Amino acid sequence: MNTAYLNGRLVPLEEATVSVMDRGFLFGDGVYEVIPVYGARLFRLDGHLARFERSLAGIRLTNPHSRAQWRTILERLLEVNGDGDRYVYLQVTRGPAPKRDHAFPGAPTPTVFASVSPITPPSPALAEHGVAAITREDIRWKRCDIKAITLLGNLLLRQEAVEAGCAEAILIRDGEAMEGAASNLFLVRAGTLLTPPKGPFLLPGITRDLVLELARDNGIEARETPIPAQWLHDAEELWVTSSTREILPVTRLDGEAVGAGRPGPLWTRMHALFQGYKARLRTGG
Ligand SMILES: Cc1ncc(COP(=O)(O)O)c(C=O)c1O
Repeated sequence: MNTAYLNGRLVPLEEATVSVMDRGFLFGDGVYEVIPVYGARLFRLDGHLARFERSLAGIRLTNPHSRAQWRTILERLLEVNGDGDRYVYLQVTRGPAPKRDHAFPGAPTPTVFASVSPITPPSPALAEHGVAAITREDIRWKRCDIKAITLLGNLLLRQEAVEAGCAEAILIRDGEAMEGAASNLFLVRAGTLLTPPKGPFLLPGITRDLVLELARDNGIEARETPIPAQWLHDAEELWVTSSTREILPVTRLDGEAVGAGRPGPLWTRMHALFQGYKARLRTGG
């Protein structure tokens, strides 16, 4: 059975319903998190909850729970949903209001929802071939650092990638590469790992933070720096990272080979470090 959490109750997912007057439904007025779970352990929970707090503050919505309460809710939800590698989806909206009005209701009653889904491990073919991506102009708003459920820009861009037979769209704003439609961006140039700095135009990814940490702890030279779009096309390696897709090596961009057209040596090393980190998490290390 797939059990969800809705406003203080555990309910079968198919029975978890909200009002059509919910501002999440009417306006996309809410924020969310996606937290991987490896061996019953929530991956970097504090990092995810810290980002969630920033997202809530960014849309001026009071956090309905403390970090300790969130942990209790999520651990209970995981307990009743069996085991295996999974991810938790967590969403808070500004809740239902008596009338559809752009302005916030005086005293909102947030809708709190969480569910659990299986996570697909990276396929072995990935290390052989990598994935293809396209570049597109970033058509999103100027607060991409808020993990808002209002995702139409991201959806339209990702759909273009899918229709081009690609795994991701890499987004360009004012001549600089920012991130993927649902991922952060890394590239290798002159042997150094580069990623755009945090700011309003990209989501501060939890996987991104871990990749930078693993680089530092293992003597891999890494730097946060603006990435001119042109660098994408002469990169030695290109990766996109996210909680559900981990570290994807991009081996074709806009129909052309990236570097040697195969996952590069730095990706192979980082992928192994990442798998090692997950394995330690599973065994409580
Ligand atoms: C736009 C965007 N950027 C980056 C990321 C990667 O963030 P994380 O590593 O925390 O999953 C995501 C994740 O879904 C995303 O939607």
